[in-house]
Amino acid sequence: MKKIRKVVIPVAGLGTRFLPATKAQPKEMLPLVDKPIIQYIVEEAVAAGIEEIIFVTSSNKRAIEDHFDRNFELEYRLRQKNKQANLKEILRISDMANFVYVRQKTPRGLGHAIFSARSLIENEPFAVMLGDDIIDSRVPAIKQLIKVYEKYQDVVVGVTKVAKKETDKYGIVDPIFIDQKTSQIKKLVEKPAPAKAPSNLAITGRYILTPEIFDFLSEQKTGAGGEIQLTDAIARYIKKRAGYACTYDGDYYDCGNKLEFIKAIVNFGLKRKEFSSQLKKYLKGL
Ligand code: UTP
Repeated sequence: MKKIRKVVIPVAGLGTRFLPATKAQPKEMLPLVDKPIIQYIVEEAVAAGIEEIIFVTSSNKRAIEDHFDRNFELEYRLRQKNKQANLKEILRISDMANFVYVRQKTPRGLGHAIFSARSLIENEPFAVMLGDDIIDSRVPAIKQLIKVYEKYQDVVVGVTKVAKKETDKYGIVDPIFIDQKTSQIKKLVEKPAPAKAPSNLAITGRYILTPEIFDFLSEQKTGAGGEIQLTDAIARYIKKRAGYACTYDGDYYDCGNKLEFIKAIVNFGLKRKEFSSQLKKYLKGL
């Protein structure tokens, strides 16, 4: 069995929901307290044993490349000022993994973004983690998916339970349960109305894919929003092969959504020893 060594992280979207903040900077670089969203995601991948991070980027996303590279001038200034802790942290960021970049020339959707990484994947299974979906968990969510992959050796999607009235915002799984956390997917339904949803298990930003997915993506027609949807390609793949859903342990935040982003900041802020009690007091006062 081939080990999951690579992750594709698409970060080429326009981030229109966050305009004007995203006019000149990537959404994925917005900070949760003092760390950009994208760094949490890379750290999750690295903690799961992934060695190579493939970013699918676009022209507006250069800040992401700079963030994961060395910055010699900053290092020099920090050394001069004897700010050792800061220096250690910024050096650690560029040493975390092997970072590779490929451009998606036009933002034609998530499926198209993943397809842009085809030549870098070669013939091995790989992970996909969306650049704005944070999962706060003890065991990295992508590691939980890798475990399921190792058992069944086919596509795995990460799912979380959502409120029944919200099924029309997500790809929803029709599950045949194997155990409490794992199911084989009978079919995937894209954004079903609550009354038509086969379950409340929503696909939320984490996948393990096999290289055969590229055959499905290469002939995938445009779907919802006029975009090439990854979910549509996975739905076709599952009909021919098999797919599994892993209900991971962890709290999911869609940081591409303003309210969820604010909730994530509050939650990560409350975990910070240096000001958590002051923040709690402030929130209670509101
Ligand atoms: P979103 O669905 O949040 O789209 O993408 P978006 O364009 O970034 O944001 P809005 O909807 O305009 O506000 C989820 C992830 O997939 C990437 C995004 O960068 C984000 O990390 N993506 C999306 C691509 O890389 N390419 C695309 O064509 C679309």
